[in-house]
Amino acid sequence: REGGLVDRYGRVATDLRVSLTDRCNLRCTYCMPAEGLPWAPDDTVLTDAEVVRLVRIGVEHLGIREVRFTGGEPLLRRGLESIVAGTHALRTADGAHVRTSLTTNGLGLDKRARSLAEAGLDRVNVSLDSLDPVRFATITRRDRLADVLAGLAAASATGLAPVKVNAVLVRGVNDDEAVPLLRWSLTHGYHLRFIEQMPLGPHGSWKRDDLVTAREILDALAAAFDLEAEPDGARGAAPAETWHVRGYPGATVGVIGSVTRPFCGACDRTRLTADGQVRSCLFAREEDDLRGLLRAGADDAAIAGAWRTAMWGKAAGHGIDDPAFLQPARTMSAIGG
Ligand code: GTP
Ligand code: 5AD
Ligand code: SF4
Repeated sequence: REGGLVDRYGRVATDLRVSLTDRCNLRCTYCMPAEGLPWAPDDTVLTDAEVVRLVRIGVEHLGIREVRFTGGEPLLRRGLESIVAGTHALRTADGAHVRTSLTTNGLGLDKRARSLAEAGLDRVNVSLDSLDPVRFATITRRDRLADVLAGLAAASATGLAPVKVNAVLVRGVNDDEAVPLLRWSLTHGYHLRFIEQMPLGPHGSWKRDDLVTAREILDALAAAFDLEAEPDGARGAAPAETWHVRGYPGATVGVIGSVTRPFCGACDRTRLTADGQVRSCLFAREEDDLRGLLRAGADDAAIAGAWRTAMWGKAAGHGIDDPAFLQPARTMSAIGG
């Protein structure tokens, strides 16, 4: 099969998400156990040059148009700027720039927003679940709220726009914070999205009954704001459903209803883990080893072929509601957010 990353259901992956490390300097309860995880040994983690080579193959041979760097925490990668610059320099078959973005917890972003923008980074999404320092520390197990706020401010001052904020509401901790988070985001010009918690954290920690659902969040927001749905078709393959907030020109709020409003049918993503495995989906049960091929000296065409084969096997959906659902062995931090 020559051409792009097509699966048996006819979806085409044009959006690549690359995890740059499985390590993180926070310990969000829905993502990682308090003690952390057995980190991938250094020699299994792709080097900067290996990452850029795989991204180049994605762009030049497989139709990738957009690259998002994730982790773990991608700012822990010293070579992030050089990886971004190497990606930014690539051109798609029709000569377009590759759009680059970063999903980060924001720690240290205050010091690197400028160098990242100069390297060609287009946008950042920053995770922030609570504006209350005690609650923030309850969820992330680290007292670092001020650093995240500084990172956000730097991103917006540097023009890494639109700056998006990702918030996960956790039952009993911050489930009353939808409205205050939106009020605050509106005053700062951040595009806020709420994410339904998925079963990708420490095994056995996710309970469907505890889920703060998209419906519940939208009801809370609608009681305080006048929300206007985007026109049909505006969403494309984006995980977030987006609303305009009347009275705040240009402002939006989004909900990523991964569990109760799955968007798998429109998915356009392919993923690379920090140790060089292709995953066709966050919830995939198999991975395909590109690192091994790369280090065995395979040429671009062979690597592209293996990547196509991996994506062909992508499942129709995550199947969280299926009684036979099994959480993947790796957690979110090791897969890439
Ligand atoms: P934008 O281009 O800014 O829209 O990025 P994004 O929303 O795709 O990226 P981000 O990394 O900010 O992802 C936000 C959340 O969307 C993640 O934390 C996941 O919860 C969810 N998400 C991203 N990709 C997938 C996916 O492939 N499947 C599912 N189920 N959820 C996803
Ligand atoms: N469910 C939903 N979102 C999660 N994130 C991490 N773990 C989960 C989970 N189990 C989010 C983070 C961050 C993004 C990368 O993924 O909050 O915003
Ligand atoms: Fe780190 Fe992100 Fe996981 Fe939180 S959700 S522990 S910030 S990788």
